[in-house]
Amino acid sequence: MKPRFKQSKEIKVGVVGYGGAFNMGRAHLQDMQRAGMTPRAVAEPDAARLAVAAKDFPGIQTFSSVTEMLAGSDVNLIVLITPHNTHAPLALQCLRAGRHVVCEKPFAITTAECDAMIAAAKKSGVMLSTYHNRHWDGSILKALEVVKSGVIGDVVRVECHMGGWGKPGDWWRSSKSISGGILYDWGVHVLEYTLQLVGSEVTEVTGFAKRGFWAAQSKWGKDTIEDEGFAVVRFKSSAWATLCISQIDANMKRGMVEVTGTKGTFLWEYDTHEIIVRDGDLTRVTKGRNPPTQWEKYYDNIAAHLTKGVPLVITPEWARRPIHILDLADRSASEGRTLKAKYG
Ligand SMILES: NC(=O)c1ccc[n+]([C@@H]2O[C@H](COP(=O)([O-])OP(=O)(O)OC[C@H]3O[C@@H](n4cnc5c(N)ncnc54)[C@H](O)[C@@H]3O)[C@@H](O)[C@H]2O)c1
Repeated sequence: MKPRFKQSKEIKVGVVGYGGAFNMGRAHLQDMQRAGMTPRAVAEPDAARLAVAAKDFPGIQTFSSVTEMLAGSDVNLIVLITPHNTHAPLALQCLRAGRHVVCEKPFAITTAECDAMIAAAKKSGVMLSTYHNRHWDGSILKALEVVKSGVIGDVVRVECHMGGWGKPGDWWRSSKSISGGILYDWGVHVLEYTLQLVGSEVTEVTGFAKRGFWAAQSKWGKDTIEDEGFAVVRFKSSAWATLCISQIDANMKRGMVEVTGTKGTFLWEYDTHEIIVRDGDLTRVTKGRNPPTQWEKYYDNIAAHLTKGVPLVITPEWARRPIHILDLADRSASEGRTLKAKYG
């Protein structure tokens, strides 16, 4: 794709979804404004949230649906900040209308959706990316620095574990059909970390799921997310990774991600880390704080891509990779067998 704009301010942004859970619509528009782009429109069915958007960005165009926004606004980049099951249909609608698209994570729920989105972007000759802001989390930046330094040796295994014990909330994230399942919300972030750390293709995935413990107490009933989701990922390099996200684990393991190498381990929580290496009979532990996040790099890259043709960091093919793992893990858990990975 050739650069489309001479200057970043010509990138007129429309946001779809201006929800109140984390005020993500405002965060995206502010960040894009900082990167030089122009906030132009918001589409949101909830009138109260649309009023918040109009107050946050005086003069911004407001619409109650993406269909109205596509018909009534000259936005040329659309950002989707909506529940997970809407990402693929909304992206396809915007891509087919010839608009560039940034989709919040997860890119989509199934591999087939990712493939359809990538094909639609190619057909329309527009950009497609996913907001993997955590690609620039301080923790993964530090982990990559430590792995590249060789201090923990060759990466053998990456274990990601999150959650604890507690009833799923009433929000849409606890609905399996809307969110994709327990592994999708945070799992996509930690898998994206893992793919950076291992740097090798996935060959197969085995998934496990415990269902039904919380369902009777949840507003979502049978559609409640799994109590626990678990995946084992095998890489071509012979490394492997595990992902566990649980709401029934009263004794969740220490550390959000643990990278085991031939000479040592790098273990991190969101803000802190430990480097544990063997020195003869001694075990040396170095503790530290993770460097600051650099999330601003995401939209700096989008603006530079659309104005100067700088390569995209988060390509749609890259965004497809963690979704492929999640999709295989879900199907594997249902079918009770290991599934082979396929790269497009
Ligand atoms: N990258 C991050 O750090 C990060 C952080 C939080 C949320 N997210 C992601 O952002 C997305 C939204 O999450 P949230 O917490 O903001 O949810 P939310 O429930 O607060 O907001 C979603 C909004 O989308 C609106 N909406 C639903 N369907 C729509 C449609 N068809 N057209 C237009 N608007 C529609 C809803 O009315 C709601 O206001 C999810 O994909 C989530 O995973 C990412």
